[in-house]
Amino acid sequence: MARIIGNAFMSHVPAIGGAIAKGRTQEDYWKPFFDGFPPLRQWVGEVKPDVVVVCYNDHGLNFFLDKMPTFAVGAAPSYSNADEGWGIPQTAPFAGEVDLSWHLIEQLVADGFDITTCQEMLVDHALTLPMALLWPDQKWPVKIVPVCINTVLFPLPSAERCWKFGQAIGRAIQSWGTDEKVLVMGTGGLSHQLEGERAGFINKPFDVQFMDSLTGDPEWATRQSINELVKQAGTQGIELLNWLVARGTLAGAGQGARELSRTYHIPISNTAGAVVLLEPA
Ligand code: DHB
Ligand code: FE
Repeated sequence: MARIIGNAFMSHVPAIGGAIAKGRTQEDYWKPFFDGFPPLRQWVGEVKPDVVVVCYNDHGLNFFLDKMPTFAVGAAPSYSNADEGWGIPQTAPFAGEVDLSWHLIEQLVADGFDITTCQEMLVDHALTLPMALLWPDQKWPVKIVPVCINTVLFPLPSAERCWKFGQAIGRAIQSWGTDEKVLVMGTGGLSHQLEGERAGFINKPFDVQFMDSLTGDPEWATRQSINELVKQAGTQGIELLNWLVARGTLAGAGQGARELSRTYHIPISNTAGAVVLLEPA
């Protein structure tokens, strides 16, 4: 049976791509963030995942204000990178794990999650940069399944619904009849707000409490409303829902979690550079 071998969580700021492209990763501004990655690279080098399920949010690339699925699952054989104008180099395309995509889609619909199925899908910085941070040579040794969560346009799914969605994905991965090792990634956050009166808002105590909750009390955030979470994390910090979906997969597979690595650094661009690696426990 397929196995979830861990959760990797990280922020997904486009400027990370700029720092990589311009060779600035060791400069004072960026080093504390990029220093968070050697432990994750060593870990993926050892455990060698076959597939990465990436829980993230699309930033107006596939889904805009006119059409916005709450949850969408990719089912494409290949995913090309485009982005919404940040001027960062495009990555090589990603091979899709189509068999797992369809298995997930069938199981999720049977489980009451009426997701949108995407047989064509572009991917943006929220997927490509986390992948590039784990595999800096950008020669992807894994196949992927993108899972998009609407964190952009209200009404957003509740934290509790995201947790349950993650659990359903975890159960589905576990019932996929292969011996593949699956890494589930959650990208975005943590606290940030890009517009309005609170532009530049970062809430470190909240971020730390959220990261702490991931091992000991992962349902902590589900006890708060979306409005409460937006108040504490900011209008873009609500991307933490992606982390919650990813963390829910381990719970759905009947696993607890142990923290292997954590980095938290303020600021990178308008948010915190947050990196957390969990393995099943
Ligand atoms: C930034 C953060 C994001 O989550 C994003 O999608 C784009 C930009 C930023 O902090 O610059
Ligand atoms: Fe974002």
